[in-house]
Amino acid sequence: MDGRSVVMVLFCLIGLTCAEKVKFVDCGSVSGKVISVDINPCNSLPCQLQKGKSYSVNVTFISTVESQTSTAVVHGIIAGVPVPFPVPIKDGCNSGIQCPIQKQYTYNYKTELPVKLEYPEINVTVKWELKDDDKKDLFCIMFPVRIVKAV
Ligand SMILES: *[C@@H]1O[C@H](CO)[C@@H](O)[C@H](O)[C@H]1NC(C)=O
Ligand SMILES: *[C@@H]1O[C@H](CO)[C@@H](O)[C@H](O)[C@H]1NC(C)=O
Repeated sequence: MDGRSVVMVLFCLIGLTCAEKVKFVDCGSVSGKVISVDINPCNSLPCQLQKGKSYSVNVTFISTVESQTSTAVVHGIIAGVPVPFPVPIKDGCNSGIQCPIQKQYTYNYKTELPVKLEYPEINVTVKWELKDDDKKDLFCIMFPVRIVKAV
């Protein structure tokens, strides 16, 4: 383990913010290129999302187009079926992105993912898209999570 990992582990142990770089699948980012995906807190993969808690999501990407708008569309894929997943703020321009989006700029899309108490305790693949003016994906990422009991 290098120094940085040791520090991260210590942070996680004492319950401070610790974000895990999430291994994601790119599901067709045509108007951008994803650099990294962070979920916080997430100590191990797949991220265990506790019901009743809220998680911060930070997606870093480079845009390859210009766009006035950006709109998030989120699905949970349960047994192969994509189910729409409500996110509190759909507007990417209100989630850390300074709009209009410019070509070849790096953006951090940052938002909250609330995990409601009524969600079932299942393994689910999250599919997160951010769409540009033409409804094309600035990014499309998929990553697995586990929804677990509130403690
Ligand atoms: C989001 O992640 C990027 C890349 O790891 C990092 O540089 C940036 O500071 C993070 N932004 C926030 C607001 O956490
Ligand atoms: C979710 O996946 C884990 C392995 O990653 C497995 O141990 C667990 O039983 C699964 N839970 C459900 C509800 O399918």
